[in-house]
Amino acid sequence: MLDKVTRLLQEAEGFTPKSEKELEEFRLSFLGKKGVLNELFVAFKDISIENKKEFGQAINKLKQCVQSKIEEFKDSFDEENYDDEIDFTRPVSLDNLGSRHPISLIRKKIVDIFNKIGFTISEGPEIEDDWHNFSALNTPKEHPARDMQDTFFIQTNPDILLRSHTSTVQVRYMDVNNPPIRTLSPGRVYRNEAISARSHCIFHQVEGLYIDENVSFADLKQTLLYFAKEMFGEKTKIRLRPSYFPFTEPSAEVDVSCNICNSKGCNVCKYTGYLEILGCGMVDPNVLENCGIDSKKYTGFAFGMGIERIAMLKYGIKDLRLFFENDIRFLKQFSSI
Ligand code: DAH
Repeated sequence: MLDKVTRLLQEAEGFTPKSEKELEEFRLSFLGKKGVLNELFVAFKDISIENKKEFGQAINKLKQCVQSKIEEFKDSFDEENYDDEIDFTRPVSLDNLGSRHPISLIRKKIVDIFNKIGFTISEGPEIEDDWHNFSALNTPKEHPARDMQDTFFIQTNPDILLRSHTSTVQVRYMDVNNPPIRTLSPGRVYRNEAISARSHCIFHQVEGLYIDENVSFADLKQTLLYFAKEMFGEKTKIRLRPSYFPFTEPSAEVDVSCNICNSKGCNVCKYTGYLEILGCGMVDPNVLENCGIDSKKYTGFAFGMGIERIAMLKYGIKDLRLFFENDIRFLKQFSSI
């Protein structure tokens, strides 16, 4: 009898199931109602007293061995099992749907606002040459205004650079299109700036350009007021401050009334009641001529804004780096927008 138990123990120890079915058969043959262990326990009653201890220990050992085998392999065939059980008619789980990035959301909103008044989209390359980024925009070599933007140059060829603003697309667009022109150019730009809560070496801008006969500063102002109201709400006011850009004359910076404190003054608007959103101006005649447009016949305005800046104001985001870290906890908050 003991021999039989030892043989069964060897068999159980050497057992490796190839499928869930084999494992189940193994379980039944040992632990099932009609399995060998039950048989052995029945036989145990008839064992002589002096052999009972040894025999009892042997069948317990066998039982433990069988149980640990089952434990060891019970999860190994889950996938196999799962395949059999896939229910192709089950509704899709929507739990893990992605969301649009806040920069994409604001970009789309800006584009939609200007689409409504006839602006169409144009794009240009991110790797640019000196002409399109500077010279054509009335910023010749050695011009001090080049220092306004810390540009990344390609070391082996100083004529090639990463565009520091989307104003480059103005030049490219005017090169191949005649007025009337109404175009909007969103895109990524690069500047050699230290990364902080307020600046990054990569960010996004939208450039706007409007050229026709008799375009005036009043048209620029009205267009930007329309934009500000659409973006930040009907009650929004704008304020223009004289500024300088080489490619526009006159130039201005535009502020919108702070809608967090209703222009009363808070720490977001630094108690001024206004927040800067963009730069703009009347396109300098030199720029028009550089792009083959008759500056005696045509005038126009241009503006440029940072998408991150608008998104920060719109959503109350205090750190620009959040846009680039792709932290799911941050991005998820925009899923319902
Ligand atoms: N290119 C400017 C910048 O990156 C923004 C800008 C200002 C664009 C005035 C314009 C403009 O078209 O007219 O800071």
